[in-house]
Amino acid sequence: MPIRDIVLYPHPALTTEAATVTEFDDDLHQLLDDMAMTMYAANGVGLAANQIDVLQAVTVIDVGEEGANTLHELVNPVITDSSGAARGQEGCLSFPELYEQVERATKVRVEYMDRSGEPQVLEAEGFLAVALQHEIDHLNGILFTDRLSSLKRRMALRKYKKSQSKQV
Ligand code: CO
Repeated sequence: MPIRDIVLYPHPALTTEAATVTEFDDDLHQLLDDMAMTMYAANGVGLAANQIDVLQAVTVIDVGEEGANTLHELVNPVITDSSGAARGQEGCLSFPELYEQVERATKVRVEYMDRSGEPQVLEAEGFLAVALQHEIDHLNGILFTDRLSSLKRRMALRKYKKSQSKQV
């Protein structure tokens, strides 16, 4: 099953912490391949495994920065350093049609494992840094709406619920 179903808020997988990956086997490789395909099919720039109801610390990101291969596959990623702060517009495949201004660090250093289980380091700024923070939050059960002030969060969730009920 290459393209997986993306779960929408308030699905419980979105607010559950993903488990550390310990097996770097064919199942993991299939998961990574499926997640990239699912992300591209949905025109997204990032997807966390929680969003397809798989509670493993796996995320894929492609913000189309310069370079031949811009698909990042990150297993067990952790932000080990960050600096700066800026507000920017964010959306999420699990919140269709909701876009909000979120404050994020402008630079991050991430330690993770690749699909073979080899430790890797990624240093990023700009939109890639924002995407990394958004996706790593997902793996910890944190949503971009959780990064808003409580008033803005309430307003955003009300707006989202209204737009979802119109689609039914
Ligand atoms: Co998201």
